[in-house]
Amino acid sequence: MLVFRTKKELSNYISSLSKNENLGLVPTMGALHTGHASLVEKAVSENNTVVVSIFVNPTQFDNKEDLAKYPNTLDADLDLLSNVSEGIVVFSPSADEVYDHKIEAKKYDFEGLDTVMEGAYRDDHFNGVGTIVEALLTLVKPNRAYFGEKDFQQLQIIRKLVEQQHIPVEIIGCPIVRETSGLAMSSRNERLSKELRQKASFIYSTLLAAKEKFGTESANYVLNWVKNQFKEHVDLELEYIEITDVETLSPVTRKNENLKYRAFIAVYAGGVRLIDNIAL
Ligand code: PAF
Repeated sequence: MLVFRTKKELSNYISSLSKNENLGLVPTMGALHTGHASLVEKAVSENNTVVVSIFVNPTQFDNKEDLAKYPNTLDADLDLLSNVSEGIVVFSPSADEVYDHKIEAKKYDFEGLDTVMEGAYRDDHFNGVGTIVEALLTLVKPNRAYFGEKDFQQLQIIRKLVEQQHIPVEIIGCPIVRETSGLAMSSRNERLSKELRQKASFIYSTLLAAKEKFGTESANYVLNWVKNQFKEHVDLELEYIEITDVETLSPVTRKNENLKYRAFIAVYAGGVRLIDNIAL
């Protein structure tokens, strides 16, 4: 497996590829798990060459402690990737290399997609995500880039980013991969105790029940029902539950048969922040 540390090495390699080859990009922050492996497997099945970036992007963390705690597991990540395919190209740069010694986020206007939910709770988060994703897309120039639907808001913002910046790439959203309990896979799950990890499956079972209720009840009714479920759960603290239009991410007021909706949730379990979402 090729592992590049600098932009120059990576772009030299990419320039050496035939113009007819399809190139896939899977941006990650490392601490890879089965959810990431599913993105990489899809990318490998659809492209001749796949670049996986492993870079913990400092500008998307509003909380310094969260950044400091972010796991660095490069050796295990490379093992996981080589089990998917030996032909994967890894880009694992330093922050100074990526940001040319000027580590700051650009400012974007994502037309309201970035001010709700994660954007409302995590200052500047999506400016940081936009900055790194734009930089990676510009460097790698992939035909396709793959992102998980667990970060569905991020996925919609990246679609907006490529539209606004006229970046010629197909953005592919991939389904959420879950643990057997139903908990959405995340590198943060490793920080949960065994007991809390099991209890956190309540997040998904509540989303499933909310989906069923949304078939017959109003959005307001469902939101209140979810809030009450969490009031009764001592170990899980609900930060937000929202039901939004899939395209605009604006909260649903009255249901419209012609629109698609999704429920989004953020919950603290023993100080670990977990997010999940479900198509309704
Ligand atoms: O989803 C992530 O892991 C990150 O936000 C991303 C897209 C790799 C950007 O740093």
